[in-house]
Amino acid sequence: GFEHPASAVPNSAARDSAFLKACRREPVPHTPVWFMRQAGRSLPEYREVRRGTAMLESCMMPELVTEITLQPVRRHGVDAAIYFSDIVVPLKAIGVDLDIKPGVGPVVAHPIRSRADLAQLRALEPDDVSYVTEAIRMLVAELGATPLIGFAGAPFTLASYLVEGGPSRNHEHTKALMYGDPQLWSELLDRLAVITSAFLKVQIEAGASAVQLFDSWVGALKPADYRERVMPHSAKVFESVAGYGVPRIHFGVGTGELLGLMGEAGADVVGVDWRIPLDEAARRVGPGRALQGNLDPAVLFAPREALRAQADQVLDAAAGLEGHVFNLGHGVLPDTDPAALTALVEYVHERTAR
Ligand code: CP3
Repeated sequence: GFEHPASAVPNSAARDSAFLKACRREPVPHTPVWFMRQAGRSLPEYREVRRGTAMLESCMMPELVTEITLQPVRRHGVDAAIYFSDIVVPLKAIGVDLDIKPGVGPVVAHPIRSRADLAQLRALEPDDVSYVTEAIRMLVAELGATPLIGFAGAPFTLASYLVEGGPSRNHEHTKALMYGDPQLWSELLDRLAVITSAFLKVQIEAGASAVQLFDSWVGALKPADYRERVMPHSAKVFESVAGYGVPRIHFGVGTGELLGLMGEAGADVVGVDWRIPLDEAARRVGPGRALQGNLDPAVLFAPREALRAQADQVLDAAAGLEGHVFNLGHGVLPDTDPAALTALVEYVHERTAR
């Protein structure tokens, strides 16, 4: 059960970190930096420890998860760690028949298209993911003052994988269900919201200092549909963890037209992709929330001088913000030179030192 009061969350060492200060919109010693997908394929030491172990299997091995999560912190000196896992882990944990295919992504054996298919989705109990609790406790002890970010997939993005049966460019089955059977759609997203809430609570109770809700593919929707058919479910997730007082980050790709609503859903920090400058994003999100982003991940393939110039553009656009967490506009691309990431962390720290 979730018996610990919020005050017992064991993350006090990280309280005064630049990352948590920026999330709380307090003054910072330097702009904090971390990268979505920092713990992964771009690192040779990651490929080394992952060799011979399937992705989902590795997510259930606390010592391996701890090592992989720490790798980018050691190498790049980022201001936060992100827990090594995947958005489909809680679905796997309740028995959904799925796998992560290398180079493809999550693939679901029996896509959810009818009411009967909903039976695949029972509630998540903390005991279903005891390896998560174990890994996070180990990590928090190792990380000291560096905060750990927990995460989960948002109801829409999880629904997309479950309804399509795998990655999708157009989300056509997902939209067919959303428009064709609004009642079933709402029940599906409700169940996913309950699972996601439980998964985030497990991570916070074990010591995560912040959580990010990935709604990666929600940019496929127009604002009216997002507001009516998705936002209430994401809002329930944010509301369910509000009492812990840990910052809640909300991110999606191609969400320029949704940023205001994504903040309203209950986020403390809104993640922004590279298609919209942060000053314009701030106008859309409105006051009272920090922003995270938003360097185009492809810029890491450019020469250093161009990389610094593009980082300057992000920092200049963020200059008037109350709280800014530097990040990419989406995840680190697999062929990124790790040295470029290290150089970028150093540059942002130097340029913003106060
Ligand atoms: O950020 C981190 O470093 C933590 C680890 C992390 C992974 N997945 C590990 C992973 C995080 C935060 C995720 C979240 C995730 N998973 C999202 C949301 C973030 C985003 O990028 O929008 C989504 C949509 C997924 C679903 C998923 N899982 C995809 C699209 C893929 C990539 C498929 C591929 O190989 O191109 C995965 C697999 C996955 N998740 C890998 C890793 C390191 C690759 C696994 C492997 O190489 O064996």
